[in-house]
Amino acid sequence: MQLSFCKLRTHQWCFLLFNVLLFHALLFGADFVEEYLLQAFPGTYTDLKVLEVRERARKLDMTTARGNISQQYTINYPEACSGQDVFLLVLIFSAPDNAHRREAIRRTWANRTHVQECLIRTLFVLESPRSLSTQATVLREAELHSDIIQGRLIESPGNLTPKTLLAMQWVVTYCPFARFILQANETAFVNLMALGDYLLTLRRHPEDLYIGRVVHQEMPDREPNSPHFLSPNQYRDKYFPDYCTGSAFVLSQDVARKVIVASEEVHFPVPYDVFIGICVRKAGVVPTHSARFSGERHIRYNACCYQFIFSSANVGDDQLDSIWQDLRDERSCSLLETYYGLVACKALTYLDKFSFFNTGTISDADSNG
Ligand SMILES: *[C@@H]1O[C@H](CO)[C@@H](O)[C@H](O)[C@H]1NC(C)=O
Ligand SMILES: *[C@@H]1O[C@H](CO)[C@@H](O)[C@H](O)[C@H]1NC(C)=O
Ligand SMILES: *[C@@H]1O[C@H](CO)[C@@H](O)[C@H](O)[C@H]1NC(C)=O
Repeated sequence: MQLSFCKLRTHQWCFLLFNVLLFHALLFGADFVEEYLLQAFPGTYTDLKVLEVRERARKLDMTTARGNISQQYTINYPEACSGQDVFLLVLIFSAPDNAHRREAIRRTWANRTHVQECLIRTLFVLESPRSLSTQATVLREAELHSDIIQGRLIESPGNLTPKTLLAMQWVVTYCPFARFILQANETAFVNLMALGDYLLTLRRHPEDLYIGRVVHQEMPDREPNSPHFLSPNQYRDKYFPDYCTGSAFVLSQDVARKVIVASEEVHFPVPYDVFIGICVRKAGVVPTHSARFSGERHIRYNACCYQFIFSSANVGDDQLDSIWQDLRDERSCSLLETYYGLVACKALTYLDKFSFFNTGTISDADSNG
């Protein structure tokens, strides 16, 4: 009926409709397929080793080690969470030199302390700089804002994994009641409002939550001269376990404990996000994929789109300010506006990928995302 009706009127209408549908299918189809393929199935805990890790994580007690642990930080802030019911603890990985960036983050997306009355706490996690004058600046900044913790680790790309572990240790020791932990790169923009709303829809005490943009079947680096080289002796499997890209991802508190326990058996050099994926797998936790995290991809700005997504990578300071101008007022987008916004920013993001003039927003992680 429908078909002949179309044909009778004018087949151009059908063609148009078909194109619109095809356009949407192409644009969003990948996301749906991705989310379907990468959906997390609850792990099976029949493996004795997995059960042991989980049991040890449950019993992990940091209170006796507190004195020792505090030695590992040049700047510590033990009372950051004390006496507060923290819902979401935000840990922003930052470099000591980037005071300017931290300032931009403080006055923009991190300047949100609540989502529906639930408390959000934001801290910057730093390494130790080589220069004494930088350290002096960092100390002043920490005193002024009380939102910095700094590990006793020299700043270097190779120290990102120990830094991640220090951060997890800090969480379990000093903020053990925070329900969720967001780890984010300082170069990213995070929409705490959207993310908080989403987390609030989950069960009250969810366990085993590890959510972000999942990287599926990445191969270890077998190139002998590369910094992340892994010989087959060090890591036997063909693929890494699925993991969430480091630019922004969320863990539930129990997963942080599991990472600490499982990390004792991981002794090879891998990027820190892969490291978390490996640890978490040892505890039987499977990552959950959400296309609302952009991974290493920069999403072209559109107000209604940015109200919906959880994160976008490589957002400049100026852009943070202009985004915040829009988002702070919590203008609500209608369903249609959100939909249109998603179409627009998705299409533009794809165009950026192909643009020869705009290489700055393209990262090599795009090809595996
Ligand atoms: C603290 O560290 C020292 C030396 O590393 C170690 O001998 C001691 O057992 C540690 N104490 C606790 C409570 O972990
Ligand atoms: C956060 O926003 C409030 C209200 O707009 C402002 O008074 C405060 O100074 C901001 N905080 C920072 C760190 O900029
Ligand atoms: C943060 O992102 C930048 C640019 O994408 C990258 O160079 C840097 O290594 C990342 N840092 C961390 C801690 O992931």
